[in-house]
Parts: sequence; C-alpha cells; structure tokens
Amino acid sequence: MNRKEFIRSCGILVAGAQAGTLFEGCAGLQHFAAAEQQGNRLAIRQSEFTFIRKEKEHTREFVMVRHPSLEFPVCVYRNDQTGYTALSTRCTHRSCEVKPAASVLVCPCHGSEFDTRGRVLGPPADEDLFIYKTTTDDAHIYIYL
Ligand code: FES
Repeated sequence: MNRKEFIRSCGILVAGAQAGTLFEGCAGLQHFAAAEQQGNRLAIRQSEFTFIRKEKEHTREFVMVRHPSLEFPVCVYRNDQTGYTALSTRCTHRSCEVKPAASVLVCPCHGSEFDTRGRVLGPPADEDLFIYKTTTDDAHIYIYL
C-alpha cells in the first residue's frame, strides 16, 4: 500500500467524526509493545518487532509504546537491523496525536505529515517530531525519558 492509498483508506480526506471512526479502524493495525521502566528509561524487547502468521515469521515496521510516564505514546520504527527511531506522537503543530503507518505519520487534526525519522513532510507543522534517545543490547531497546 502506498502513501496515498493509506491516507485514502484511513479517511484523512473525510471530514468530521467519520474520519475519527476510520482512524480507529487503522489503529487496530498497531502493535503495542510491553514496556518496563528501568530508572530513566523504558525497556521493550526487540522481539516485539516480529510475529508469526501462517507459520511464517514476519517483521513489523514499527511498534507503539504506552506508559504512565509518557504524555503521548512513542512510536518506535526499525530503520535497519540495529537502528531504531523512537518518536513522540505529539504533533508539533497543536499537540494532537499523530497516527503512524509503515512509511509516514499523519496528524488527524490538520493533516501534517512526518517521515519515519520524525521530519516534517507536510504542513501546517513546521517542526520535526521529538526523537527520544535510544540504545540497544542483544534483546532490548531502551528509550530514555
Ligand atoms: S495538530 Fe497536527 S496538524 Fe495541527
């Protein structure tokens, strides 16, 4: 699915409550990873990025993290085998929660778009999303608060 198809399927161009309803349908595609707070960081397992379907292993492009220490969920994209980008989902325009997909994050309030590294692709937002510092070990990704 390309970007335009995704936007169409999520109802970005549909006004009002209908758009919200369709977004909830897309949100069902998101996977929320279990997060454990360890001091000033959250730990999630790298295995959260894989799942089995029809006896085959698949890889997720991103996982979501919710935690009481976070005002907005964090979206963690896997950039390559060892790299991750942890983005705040707080839109830099007027603080709505952006909705992630495989290759773009879209704000349901006024349509700002961001790439998977948090960079602004489309207005009205003119600042990139906040990026949390991350580190990894063999099994975990650590998101620093
Ligand atoms: S709050 Fe996100 S585009 Fe306005």
